[in-house]
Amino acid sequence: MKVDHYAVFGHPIGHSKSPRIHRLFAEQTKQSLAYAAQDVPAESFVAAADAFFADGGKGLNCTVPLKELAWQYADRLTERARLAKAVNTLARQADGSIVGDNTDGVGLVNDLTLNHGITLPGSRILILGAGGASRGIVGPLLECRPARVTIANRTVYKAETMVAEFEGLGNVDSSGYPELEGRQFDLILNATSASLSAQLPPLPANLLAEQGCCYDLAYGTQPTAFVIWGIAQHASKSLDGLGMLVEQAAEAFFVWRGIRPLTGPVIELLNGECQAASPALGY
Ligand code: ATR
Repeated sequence: MKVDHYAVFGHPIGHSKSPRIHRLFAEQTKQSLAYAAQDVPAESFVAAADAFFADGGKGLNCTVPLKELAWQYADRLTERARLAKAVNTLARQADGSIVGDNTDGVGLVNDLTLNHGITLPGSRILILGAGGASRGIVGPLLECRPARVTIANRTVYKAETMVAEFEGLGNVDSSGYPELEGRQFDLILNATSASLSAQLPPLPANLLAEQGCCYDLAYGTQPTAFVIWGIAQHASKSLDGLGMLVEQAAEAFFVWRGIRPLTGPVIELLNGECQAASPALGY
């Protein structure tokens, strides 16, 4: 039987869960495909992607630090990828051209709404960070018609630049961290890379509204600093980004194969493994 080839490129890539997730999706949907992880530093990206597609590869996922390069590499972009200025999914078309897509934002929205029952229409959303991770989620969040999306960043002008790009899509404003004092939000999303070094942006007290939720786009075997902060703020839910990881993968799988895998069993399985890795924390 002919096997279609897919891969994730990134640097580093050793701990990527994507091969596992896509193999589970393939098993579940009875699709015949292979999915590998390849360590590709930025300077080798174009040559590696050219070689992959020349060999008949059907699709690539691109992660840190390659999403902007993948955006430039694509022959065509979906609207959500164009706005995000980042591509996490490349798909080879029948005519050989490469379409770039971004499934991160829809992955986040699906995890928030479908898996966790969080209501986005009318809500006050705060996004921490104005880098690549933040850029990927603003458009899909605004499409859910929240009351407002506020983008806060240490370097304020980056948040202001993003607001100028996205303000046509809905109610969006920018802020520095000290200026958040006195404001309240129903959902706070951490899209900074601070969690990766166990740090937190300088957040004022009482930022989270009663019954509000916290969500860290990062995930790990241990709860992130932001997830712990959310628990301390009495968030009704304080979640990490494992569900988003599985949901963005499911959307990429759909882009490539035209079939939507069930994400629930895969999230459950991976969550169970995280718990087994850090039993002392009860996660
Ligand atoms: P990514 O693609 O993961 O978003 P990035 O584009 O380098 O990575 O952006 C990192 C984001 O995390 C930025 O918003 C950065 O803030 P600055 O633009 O002010 O640098 C934010 N960030 C990283 N470490 C942080 C920290 N310790 N406190 C607050 N913000 C932090």
